[in-house]
Amino acid sequence: MVGGGKPTSGAGGRFVSTREDVLFALSRAEGPVSGEALAREMGISREAVWKAVNALREEGYGVESMPNRGYQLRDRESVLTERGVRAYLGGDAPVEIYRSIDSTNNRAKALAMAGAPHGALVIADMQTMGRGRMGRAFYSPAGSGLYMSVVLRPRVAAERAVKATVIAAVAAARAVEKLSGLRTDIKWVNDLYAGGKKLAGILTEAGMDLESGNLDYCVTGIGVNLRREAYPEELRGIATSVEEQCGERIPRARLAAEITRGMLDMMEDMGNPGIMREYRERSNVIGREVLVTRGDERFEAVAEAIDNDGALVVRTAEGAETLRSGEVSLRVLG
Ligand code: BTN
Repeated sequence: MVGGGKPTSGAGGRFVSTREDVLFALSRAEGPVSGEALAREMGISREAVWKAVNALREEGYGVESMPNRGYQLRDRESVLTERGVRAYLGGDAPVEIYRSIDSTNNRAKALAMAGAPHGALVIADMQTMGRGRMGRAFYSPAGSGLYMSVVLRPRVAAERAVKATVIAAVAAARAVEKLSGLRTDIKWVNDLYAGGKKLAGILTEAGMDLESGNLDYCVTGIGVNLRREAYPEELRGIATSVEEQCGERIPRARLAAEITRGMLDMMEDMGNPGIMREYRERSNVIGREVLVTRGDERFEAVAEAIDNDGALVVRTAEGAETLRSGEVSLRVLG
């Protein structure tokens, strides 16, 4: 497979190659498509189709040749192309797609700092240094999950960046449910759970405009486990995937588009109380005993509520305390 630092599509906006056209066409076809039909549809020669198919095979795509019937792609649901994402997303913000990258959040932050617009999207098939909150790693193997980051430019005070995580959690939960039927819970502040295990994580990183105190940009990264996976020892019993939970294989391009669209729509109306209401309804921590880790400090508490800023209100022996997401991690005890 080709990896490395170059996007396979979408760099600088509108780069589209024959290879990507063929991949897109094969990913949409229900059955085999003949080289002749592909050539006709794209207005190119059969030889050009054949070359594109070979290029795709060299990259690791499973393009099968069926005698007298044409080409068929194995594992169509995994295919990520700019066109595939755009077909569901619309809009004209840049979409970059990588076979392999260190972290989509790193790339999206670089784009944001270089002036990328609200809605710019980076997606990768795998990450070599996927990052989670509190400096943790996020396991991101190829062909197994969706790893994506969105550049957002909400005109709000920097301390409201947590709202981007809330919105991403609701958007991801809705999208997974829409495309697979799987109901997911939200574990404050940034994880989606299903069957008592972690299905997805969200990492929001923000840049501030020092003069106004407002956000300059937010990058919200979302990693969703989609396929059955042989997890490394430390994740066994903790992580799960959509396929494991309900047997469905969600098309990645469509899921990326649904999550992004959901986020962008909610960002238009950030103060809408329905967003926090849904976040609370999906919460799997309210009313539960939790172990709170804040820096070197650890204490047990009961999670009582999530306030309108997305902070968690807990009760300890000493009284109520409001926990902001930045410095806190949580384990549900009972
Ligand atoms: C967590 O579990 O603490 C958050 C995980 C966030 C993972 C996503 S995957 C896409 C984006 N790129 C990263 O490096 N991290 C986020």
